[in-house]
Amino acid sequence: MWDVLLTDCQAATMTTGGSSYGLIPDAAIAIEGERIAWVGTARDLPRADAHETRRLDQALVTPALIDCHTHLVFGGDRAAEWELRLGGASYEDIAAKGGGILSTVRATRAASEEELAQSAARRARVLAGQGVSTVEIKSGYGLDMVNECKMLRAAAVAGKSANIRVVRTFLGAHIVPPEYQNDRGAYIDLVCNEMIPAMARERLADAVDVFCDTIAFTTAEAGRIFAAAAASGLPVKLHADQLSDQAGALLAGKYRALSADHLEYVSEKGIAAMAAAGTVAVLLPCAWYFLGGGKNPPVAALRKAGVPIAIATDCNPGTAPVLSPLTALNMACTSFGLTPEEALTGMTRNAAAALGLQAKTGTIEAGKSADLAVWNVSSPAELAYWIGAPLLRDRYYRGRSMGMV
Ligand code: NIG
Ligand code: FE
Repeated sequence: MWDVLLTDCQAATMTTGGSSYGLIPDAAIAIEGERIAWVGTARDLPRADAHETRRLDQALVTPALIDCHTHLVFGGDRAAEWELRLGGASYEDIAAKGGGILSTVRATRAASEEELAQSAARRARVLAGQGVSTVEIKSGYGLDMVNECKMLRAAAVAGKSANIRVVRTFLGAHIVPPEYQNDRGAYIDLVCNEMIPAMARERLADAVDVFCDTIAFTTAEAGRIFAAAAASGLPVKLHADQLSDQAGALLAGKYRALSADHLEYVSEKGIAAMAAAGTVAVLLPCAWYFLGGGKNPPVAALRKAGVPIAIATDCNPGTAPVLSPLTALNMACTSFGLTPEEALTGMTRNAAAALGLQAKTGTIEAGKSADLAVWNVSSPAELAYWIGAPLLRDRYYRGRSMGMV
């Protein structure tokens, strides 16, 4: 007997090969323990016995959303810096004067692990309340062993308290910390020789990321860090070609990165390298918007090359103070020209791939974790269409209803 049977619903399974959105108009979904046991058209149900049957009044069920790029753990905020930017200062100017990421580093170092966990848990609960059951959280505002570990432990605590799966990424190479301003090589040595092996040994991180740009690390430096990650058995991701073309995507392809993220300035060669390596392009329209909407990422070229596209909030205090995944979907369509189906695929199936979790979550398929979102909408396109509407009716995480209504 199944544990739970969801009926009288439409299911956007987000699987490939079938109808648009993998839509099953009159669907049933059976859950056994933490997993999806069966999904299909209700009339094909092999049996209808379940401990509990929930009729959903034709609500839409999708895979729970996956926010695959966030910096959810941080101290302080950067509202004052935003005011400066509105007055004409650029993100790069502010960074050059010791503000930007470095100002969040100061606030994060000053915060206790408990304070960081609590503020991140509040943010994670907001994401969960919008249908997210998996969130990636990066370190990168500690920039020394103690504070990077503190951030990653806080990320795990935040996930538990919000009933959400957290995937942790070590971003020690976010920017050169103040104490190494005159010896960046020594900081990269520390990242490669001590921090990455410790993150792997202590299982504090699932992947390693680098911010590769003019204000952060060069492509050659990122290459050294990727080699260290590979030696420790950790997959890599890259903040690539956001503010300028640094050939970041080429490097991501070379190291078979799970994803290359931002990509406003990615080159044709970079796109080809990503396509060959199966690297996911994570586009971050909220950061693009909040930085003033400069160059668009080349969506048509990514599509043409067959690079899978994911969408995330990039929630962080500097470039994307955003806790609304559905707003990110809307912006992906209105600003970057994705179709609503591409956008939703980008926050489900392709977001799972960007985290290496495609076998576990991201689609509604038998055997996958029963991570589901139930929405009060009549068509999947509405998820990207409304801005700020309370559309979520319920969220399932590993088979359990979180009762969000
Ligand atoms: O994804 N680009 C680098 N990292 C973040 C910004 C972090 C910050 O400004 O605090 C991003 O946009
Ligand atoms: Fe980021």
